[in-house]
Amino acid sequence: MEIKHIAVIGAGTMGNGIAQVCATSGYQVTMIDVNANALQKALGTINSSVEKLHSKGKLTDEAKRNAQEGINTKTEMSAASSADLIIEAATENKGLKLKIFSDLDQIARPEVILASNTSSISITEIAAATKRSAQVVGLHFFNPVPIMTLVEIIRGYDTDQATIDTVMSVTQAMGKTPIEAADYPGFISNRILCPMINEAIFCVMEGVGTPEAIDQVMKLGMNHPMGPLTLADFIGLDVVLAIMDVLYDGLGDPKYRACPLLRKMVAAGHLGRKSGKGFYTYS
Ligand code: CAA
Repeated sequence: MEIKHIAVIGAGTMGNGIAQVCATSGYQVTMIDVNANALQKALGTINSSVEKLHSKGKLTDEAKRNAQEGINTKTEMSAASSADLIIEAATENKGLKLKIFSDLDQIARPEVILASNTSSISITEIAAATKRSAQVVGLHFFNPVPIMTLVEIIRGYDTDQATIDTVMSVTQAMGKTPIEAADYPGFISNRILCPMINEAIFCVMEGVGTPEAIDQVMKLGMNHPMGPLTLADFIGLDVVLAIMDVLYDGLGDPKYRACPLLRKMVAAGHLGRKSGKGFYTYS
């Protein structure tokens, strides 16, 4: 089936970034969120991102117009019924995602692929909430979506090759580089990234270095674009903690235990950029 129309579920940071790259690549896009205000805010974010990219010559006039004028927004999930591919990017909550996939399975045409942008929840488990497990796949984008070129493609236990081939070519058409990972906790990206961030938090807790010192070491010594604590604030400390817990529960190895300081900061509501305070303070 030729993919022309993509529905994106969720208008948050990841959802609006995915909707943007789908639209700038020429797909017809419907962005769906139960919260009408979130949809409006998402359109504003997309608008300023495409303005920035266009002014630097990184987007054509047509791609900019597609994103600024062509994204349809809806508050009902049923609006996904005409889509050829559905990408879910809702809040990272297993119960919520299982419910969304069970609903999408009723709404979408039988041949439609259902993809999840989950950063850590098992694709196999999500697929089991549907009657089309061969057509359920992980499409893990990275923040900021318009800039980061990787899409991790996660093959669930039942995902078939035709589904993998289709999402590989769709993500390539978006200018991304798809890389396949098996469905094990954290996939490839977060299996490696989050333990590094967690170790940096242990270094803060044990007084090995200040957050500034730790970030400078990794930026200047390892050429990382952001230090691990700046990146933790960017991702959200609650998200990092949830991923560490998935690694620990799923792999059963104590090397994945979340740092107690990370747990304490999340309990205190210091979640990073989104709450205004994490390892750094944001105005
Ligand atoms: N839209 C358009 N342009 C954007 C943008 C957006 N959403 N976000 C950043 N940019 C542009 C900026 O305008 C800037 O352009 P110029 O260089 O032309 O001025 C450029 O990107 C670089 O931005 P900055 O100068 O603000 O800062 P920077 O050089 O540090 O780059 C960054 C920002 C691209 C985010 C870079 O710091 C980086 O790559 N950081 C690491 C990001 C990362 O690791 N992301 C993955 C997180 S993990 C995840 O997402 C998944 C998960 O499961 C947890």
